Formats: sequence, C-alpha cells, structure tokens
Amino acid sequence: MNAEPNEITRDGENKSLWQRNVKDETISASPDNAKIYDALIVGAGITGLTTALLLQKSGLKCVVADAHHAGYGTTGGTSAHINTFADTTFKEVEDAFDEESARLFAESIGKSVKLIHELVETYHIDCDFDWKKGYVYAETDDEVKQLDDILESSLNVGVEVKITTQAPARVAYQKALVFENQAQFHPLKYILGLQKEFIRLGGIVLENTLINDIERGEGINIAKSENGEIKALSVVYATHIPPGGINLLHFENAPYRSYVIAATLTDDAYPDDLVYDMKDPYHYFRTHVIDGQKYLVAGGHDHKTGHGDPEKALSDLIEFTKSCYNVAEVTEQWSSQYFVPADGVPYIGKLPGDSKSVYAATGFNGNGMILGTVSAMVISDLILKKTSLYEKLYDPGRIKPVAGFTEFVKESADVTARFIGDRFKTEKVDSLNQLPVGTGEIVTYEGQKLAVYKDESGKVHALDPVCKHAGCIVKWNNSEKSWDCPCHGARYNAEGQVLTGPARVDLDKVSLTAEAE
Ligand code: FES
Repeated sequence: MNAEPNEITRDGENKSLWQRNVKDETISASPDNAKIYDALIVGAGITGLTTALLLQKSGLKCVVADAHHAGYGTTGGTSAHINTFADTTFKEVEDAFDEESARLFAESIGKSVKLIHELVETYHIDCDFDWKKGYVYAETDDEVKQLDDILESSLNVGVEVKITTQAPARVAYQKALVFENQAQFHPLKYILGLQKEFIRLGGIVLENTLINDIERGEGINIAKSENGEIKALSVVYATHIPPGGINLLHFENAPYRSYVIAATLTDDAYPDDLVYDMKDPYHYFRTHVIDGQKYLVAGGHDHKTGHGDPEKALSDLIEFTKSCYNVAEVTEQWSSQYFVPADGVPYIGKLPGDSKSVYAATGFNGNGMILGTVSAMVISDLILKKTSLYEKLYDPGRIKPVAGFTEFVKESADVTARFIGDRFKTEKVDSLNQLPVGTGEIVTYEGQKLAVYKDESGKVHALDPVCKHAGCIVKWNNSEKSWDCPCHGARYNAEGQVLTGPARVDLDKVSLTAEAE
C-alpha cells in the first residue's frame, strides 16, 4: 500500500475514521549524534508524545523516535474515549490490591482526563475535544449485579456517578448509570497538536527511525538506529509493549484485537453521549462529526490476537450495530491492538531487568487514551522528580498473584501451548494453487511449514512463520492482511515486514520453486 505524502498510515490494511483528511506536516529532524539528550522517547503515540511534551516543557532536551510516524500504532486506531472509569473496575483493583490502590487508580485516571483537557486548552489544539456523559446499562440480572458493584466501588473512590433512567440505550434495559465529566476527541489531531508543541519547544522528532538496540554506557543510554546513534540519559519505551528480547512484561500482558466501525445513519438517532452495554462481547457507541458529517462510532467484539476470526468480529459488530441503529452506510471498519495486564493494572515505570534509566508503559486494556496519559504523568515525574505518587501502584516490577484474573491465567497457558503445539499441528493444503487471492495461510510445502500469502496478481509470497520475537507461529489476519503472533502480539505485513512489536526483525522470506508459484 503506497502512502500519499504526509498521509498518516497505520499498522494494518484497514483505514480508521481518524485518517480521513488528516495530514502529518511534521518535518522529521536528524539526530545530533554527538549530543547527549536528557530523554529519548521511543514511540510517537499518545504515551510517547505526552511524555515528551511534559518533559520538554519542564526544560529537558528530548528526542522522540518512531519507526514510522505519529499515530501509526494503536493511537491511530482507538475509538478515542476519555473516561473517569476503566475496563478494570475499581472493585477489581480493590480485590486484587487494596482500597488505597483503587483510590489511587481512580485519582490518576481523573488527573489524566484533566491533563488532556488542560493541554488542549493551553496549546489550543483543534481536536474536537468535547465533554460528554457516559452511560453504562445492564440488561440482565447478572449485569445488574456487576453494575451495582461498579456504582458502589466508583462512589467509594470518589468518581462522580449516579443511577439514571435516561440512558440513551437502543434496547430495553434494567438499570443504568451515568458518569459525569467524560469526553471524546479526535486522537490523531490531538497527538499531532502535542507533537507540534513539542517541536516548538525545541524537541526533536525522528520519523522512520527504528531503534534497533540500546546499549548501556556509563550513565548514558546509546540507542542504535539506521540514522546513527542517539545518546540519552533516560529512555522511555512508549511502544505499547517494550520491543526486543523477551522481557517479564511480555508474559504479564496478553495482546487483544479490538474492532471499530464508523457509519452514517438514515435518521438522526446519533447518540449525543457515550453509551456502553455490558454484554459479552460488549459494545459501545458514540458520535463524531468530521467535515460536517455525523458518524456513529461503534466498537467491541474484541478477541485475543491470533485467535478468533477478525472478519467475523467486524461483521458481527456491523450486524449488531444495524440491529440498534438505522445504518445507511458503514464508511470505515478497522481494528487495533491493546494489551490486557495480568492483574488488571497497567505496568508503568522502570523496565524490569533493565538499567535504572529505562522506562516502559503497557497493559492499558481498552483505555489507552487515559492510561497512556497516566503513563506520561508517572514517567515524567519519575524522570524529573525521581518519584511519583503512583509509582508503587503501577510498578512494572511488582509481584502479584493473578488468581483473581482467571482469564489471563487461561491465556498464559495458551501461550505455552502455542510454543509447543504449533510446530506439530499443520493445516494441510494440497497445493498452493488452492489458496484464494488476497489471503494467507500456514501450509506445509515439501515438508516445510510456511506462511504463504497470495497477492491480488496471484503471486505467492512465502515466509518462515516463526515469529522473530520468541519463536511462536504467526497466524493470518485476513481483515488487516497481516501475520499476527498469538503469543505477545507482534504483527507483520503480508510480506513479512514488522508492523507491531515486540518483534524488531522481519520474518524470513522463503524462495519457492517456479512450479509452486
Ligand atoms: Fe513473542 Fe511472537 S510476539 S513470540
């Protein structure tokens, strides 16, 4: 897929609503190889750019390096909700940690909402920021019980919420809550605004700069890239999951795909606020206006990366949306990736097993906008003040039993099974000729296991399917036309080039005989 100049591309084939008519006018700089920067931030999504701006405006000299450009990763595919509550409920945090941890979780999230608004106001970022109410509704007795827990635990930690009979649900519901002071925005316009301000304050942005490795010198980190070395006192991995070799965090976070559509309606029933059901799989709806046209933004049907059927998830989401709203046209449909943390709370702070001056942030669940911003608050405080109010809660080195999160335990077991089982379980395909164009498949060909993709012209591209991160077998994602690794979420395009870490190296190409092609 060839991108237009300044076009914002993403880590998949599908385009998100946010890519429409948004250009990245950033002029990528060159690193000063001799200079020692205060901080190198790897990754130009909401986490990286917010961290960079907070540090730069405090007087530090920072450089942001991204393997592509701002918004290439999950920030460009989010549904852009800004909430005072999270997928991990305050009750779950209280049960897994304690009451004080639940309070700190809520407090830090509340501050992140205020920080986003403050940055929008201070720097006049034109990003469609809009305050909203957030409605959550329960349709069954079980859901009502969960809703009651959410109500009680939210009130306990000081979050503004109450029971309502006015939820704008499109189905009959038993009980509903309304959260005050929620918001929405255009995520790409927001982070491009942050990036512009960062550059205005003297910050350096390096686009198309993959950091291959980081060496530890005496008090200095030396990052290696094709554009030369970048020296920095601190390094922040704002890459959604730290890249490179195997890290503890890769085993404490499970990768998920999340699905979103944008649609026009035949009537004007677009919701004014943010609406969430409690089904499994869940759904949410909101409205966004782009170039004068209203769009219903609907999401849900998440599943673990490399599991499930991405095309079915999208078609189920579309079908469900059509059962609730009079859809005229589905204009965009896309997916993005997030990581579910083992004990429900993100990992933000010093990277376990690394030098004291390397930081990471991951495990945001489906709350990347607020928890990416929390990460920026915590990491910038750790770098500037050497301490953060939330350091202990989010400590990536914490040891927590995960008994309360049975889903995660099940998923970790699945990773082990993938390591061992996939080497021996092969879908047999008689001939590569049977493969439909535009699709990929893991096949055994002449005794060798291959990841093969047949492009639209009928040419077969063959790859070694062994993920370059830690050796799991990738799986074809026919919606995003990517090879997705079920273990820690690395993703590659149809030709094997890395789209998403933790892998840094492309899949190996395999030559096929002329007869096979
Ligand atoms: Fe870890 Fe593929 S992402 S093995």
